[in-house]
Amino acid sequence: MLERYNQGRMIFSHGGVALGPDAPLKDWQAGLTQAFAAAGVRTPQIDARLLLMGAIGLSHGQIIMNPMRPVTAEEAAAVTACGERRLAREPLSRILGYREFYGRRFGLTPAALDPRPDTETVVEAALAIVKSEGWEEAPIQILDLGVGSGAILLTLLAELPQASGLGVDVSPSALNNAQANAEKLEVSGRANFQRSDWLQGVAGSFHIVISNPPYIATPDLAGLAPEVSAYDPKIALDGGEDGLTAYRKIIPGLKSVLAPGGWAVLEVGQHQSSPVAQLLQINGFAMDDRDLCIKEDLYGIERAISGKA
Ligand SMILES: C[S@@+](CC[C@H](N)C(=O)[O-])C[C@H]1O[C@@H](n2cnc3c(N)ncnc32)[C@H](O)[C@@H]1O
Repeated sequence: MLERYNQGRMIFSHGGVALGPDAPLKDWQAGLTQAFAAAGVRTPQIDARLLLMGAIGLSHGQIIMNPMRPVTAEEAAAVTACGERRLAREPLSRILGYREFYGRRFGLTPAALDPRPDTETVVEAALAIVKSEGWEEAPIQILDLGVGSGAILLTLLAELPQASGLGVDVSPSALNNAQANAEKLEVSGRANFQRSDWLQGVAGSFHIVISNPPYIATPDLAGLAPEVSAYDPKIALDGGEDGLTAYRKIIPGLKSVLAPGGWAVLEVGQHQSSPVAQLLQINGFAMDDRDLCIKEDLYGIERAISGKA
């Protein structure tokens, strides 16, 4: 990497000066920000900071406290290589190989969806249900349909030390990603994984079934940002013609795997809360407590829809 770097790959600059070894952190941060903004990155400043932190291995505090710290040749090579990938619109989480979710670090492989902050709303919804049912100390069973990296299931297992769970996915590589995260987060003793097409072959009696299924309408896939369309697996995004195909497959079978009084908690896309709530109700789920059943994300979008069996 260093060799390639030394062959003149000083592609970032600040104040008209190419950035290389010995340039201070603050110039690298400014140069990266400027280049990312020009490339159409939506949050250039944040990405520049996180990339510097991840590529060099510094904390936010270390960057703020030492703006004049010179970057070594090796660090400059690493930052340049990562920065080039970000310029090509590869998401930071894919470049660094991890994503922070609900305060924990999840390793990320190309097989799994990059877990989104919006999905933390599903975790909040499930935890609110656990609290309202008085299940905080109970050995509850949780099923995650379409577990991906494990972000939702493993967060819940980490938050609820008595709970155990099953994560299913149709993608074996996503299941490997989730299993590795379960081990890193030290919840693998309470997590099982199974390859399955939604509920086919899934047996058990769960207290909570969660799912963040693919819900982007097929015609909308073409308009997604390159960070999403080129890097998230299509199988994790494509929700069929109107985005609701997976819900129609999943919801009618949910009661067969839920304990009486158990809950379904589903993530939905914008404008999907009403049709999904309707599907839950048609299939016999009660949605009496609105505060518990509909949770908005930070942008005020109804993001998690829950129903009681
Ligand atoms: C939107 S991603 C959610 C991943 C993860 N739960 C999260 O929230 O970050 C949807 C997941 O469903 C999985 N999936 C798609 N079709 C499936 C099917 N027919 N059966 C099981 N899982 C499926 C995908 O592989 C992907 O991991």
